[in-house]
Amino acid sequence: MHHKIRVRRLANKQILMEDKGIARRYGRTIVEPVFEQLFDEESSTLTYILGDLASCSAVIIDPVDHHIERDLAVLKRMGLSLAYALETHAHADHITSAGILAQRTGAKTATPFHCGVGPSDQRLFDGDEIRFGNERLEVLHTPGHTAGSVCYLWRGAVQADGADRVRNAVFTGDTLFIGGCGRTDFQGGDAGELYDSITGTLFALPDQTRVYPGHDYQGNRVSTIGHEKTRNPRLAGKSRAEFIALMDNLNLPKPKMIDVAVPANRNLGLPQGA
Ligand code: FE2
Repeated sequence: MHHKIRVRRLANKQILMEDKGIARRYGRTIVEPVFEQLFDEESSTLTYILGDLASCSAVIIDPVDHHIERDLAVLKRMGLSLAYALETHAHADHITSAGILAQRTGAKTATPFHCGVGPSDQRLFDGDEIRFGNERLEVLHTPGHTAGSVCYLWRGAVQADGADRVRNAVFTGDTLFIGGCGRTDFQGGDAGELYDSITGTLFALPDQTRVYPGHDYQGNRVSTIGHEKTRNPRLAGKSRAEFIALMDNLNLPKPKMIDVAVPANRNLGLPQGA
């Protein structure tokens, strides 16, 4: 005996099937991922929380020690559980909260291989993928600011409605800033390598890729690869030799916290010997 099955498409891309009066929902709900950009006034560091609402899984990029309660509150407000605490490099200007965040949330820590962060759960190489729920980040090794620096590329999913809304974003740490770039005079920094990383790896990304840097000192918060390619005063129209000469003559003061921050960050911000 046949009975009638009613199939309806819902506005949120789910399919509702009604069979013998029992309704079942099928298909994946298209949920926009969560994105939070957070700022530290002291070091002008930008921290990012990315979350997949479908699985309630999140990552944090470059968390700062004294903002741990703020960051935990953001995760709680969003109903997200932290899968990874990620670092773009071993910072010289602030101390990470990654180690303590991992202890408090059960998240894994993942850091670039060449940064030599001892207690890290996972060492990252070029091309590695970080997965959180349905989302993924690709690791781009971009040496130059430090020998180990990486960027994280978040490729947008092609949406099921066919709109092809691409939300490519790259978290550039101190490799590329909005209208600038990280310095190259310590921690294995190398101006020639930085030029190659920016022009060869980052500028090879689609022009509309959003750029989210690890710092900003002017109140800017987002740029695009296309904009930086044509407008970044350190790079636009500059040859490799010109860039190296420019970086070699910045004469910047030594970062105040470097002697404390780098060893602390190589230990994920955890007490030494712990
Ligand atoms: Fe840095």
